Amino acid sequence: MERTVHVPLEGRAYDVVIGPGLLQDVGRRIAPFLKRPRVAVLTDETVAAQHLETLRDGLQAAGIEMQALALPPGEATKSWPQFTRSVEWLLEQKVERNDVILAFGGGVVGDLAGFAASVLRRGVRFIQIPTSLLAQVDSSVGGKTGINARQGKNLIGAFHQPTLVLADTEVLGTLTTRDFLAGYGEVVKYGMLGDAAFFAWLEENGPLLAAGDMAKRVEAVARSVQMKADIVVRDETEQGDRALLNLGHTFCHALEAATGYSDRLLHGEGVAIGCALAFELSSRLGLCSQEDPSRVRAHLKAMGMKTDLSDIDGPLPDAETLLQLMGQDKKVVAGQLTFILARSIGDAFVTADVPKEAVLSVLSDALAECQ
Ligand code: GLY
Repeated sequence: MERTVHVPLEGRAYDVVIGPGLLQDVGRRIAPFLKRPRVAVLTDETVAAQHLETLRDGLQAAGIEMQALALPPGEATKSWPQFTRSVEWLLEQKVERNDVILAFGGGVVGDLAGFAASVLRRGVRFIQIPTSLLAQVDSSVGGKTGINARQGKNLIGAFHQPTLVLADTEVLGTLTTRDFLAGYGEVVKYGMLGDAAFFAWLEENGPLLAAGDMAKRVEAVARSVQMKADIVVRDETEQGDRALLNLGHTFCHALEAATGYSDRLLHGEGVAIGCALAFELSSRLGLCSQEDPSRVRAHLKAMGMKTDLSDIDGPLPDAETLLQLMGQDKKVVAGQLTFILARSIGDAFVTADVPKEAVLSVLSDALAECQ
């Protein structure tokens, strides 16, 4: 059932291994990358409570020693204080230039640990062991690392590719339904942005993989990672095509800011709602058929996912304010907002040529449904 996706970046190529039970075998898998049998692990308290013993046993089976630092779970950890704490802890553990750090957790841990690895002793290697669906299909692959600033998310960071990614799909079994579906928002994004056949496969198989079908989980993660790898190899530092991965994200970032980056809206939920809005906008601009946004929304709803603004608990600001929040996005170039729009499901493109009025009307209509 195991699958390997190779990321062929010149001089920094690596494998993403996907399958159930990788943790039990982690020592044997990472041993070829170690100069000495010792690793430092950055994780969070939730993942540590559920899976750290399995990781420790898997390492011990190959005679590898580990020290671990468990950070508080949640987005607030992607901050200077926790970053400083992590880097100082790694230095206290006497992590050397040739050592390897393990990032064992979801997107928060992966981004923070990767950034710590990028600056520690001017750069040490790190291995991603993503434990959330979102991290397995997106954030653990491609080398974007970083933390949040007061001014916005992910504004401080570095490109630093991992040495190996081990995505153990068995671990997904301990996720809450909400977290699993939030990660699924990123899975379905790949179908919407570049692979209509994958989207159709998800329409058929999404409910089965959500219910726990392991072969389908492996297939969905592997296809997502393959698409991400292809895009990252074409455009590692996001000069062009990599921005396609941000389908739904311009809307999502505004919604996350409007809900205070809180539990009211998880990132993957915002991505799903943002994708539905991006298809609505594309349809209104005459770029894609009217059926496409309906099909996107129908699949998200069939999966029991947040789909519309009305699915977000609590009040939202008006359309003008949401548009202003989009202006804080990293993708603003020379004051111009960039959108990822679509010609059809599976055919997205990047454009800065979007009339503000069209965005406002999509948002106003979506907000009107909340009343
Ligand atoms: N998550 C978007 C990217 O890696 O480019």
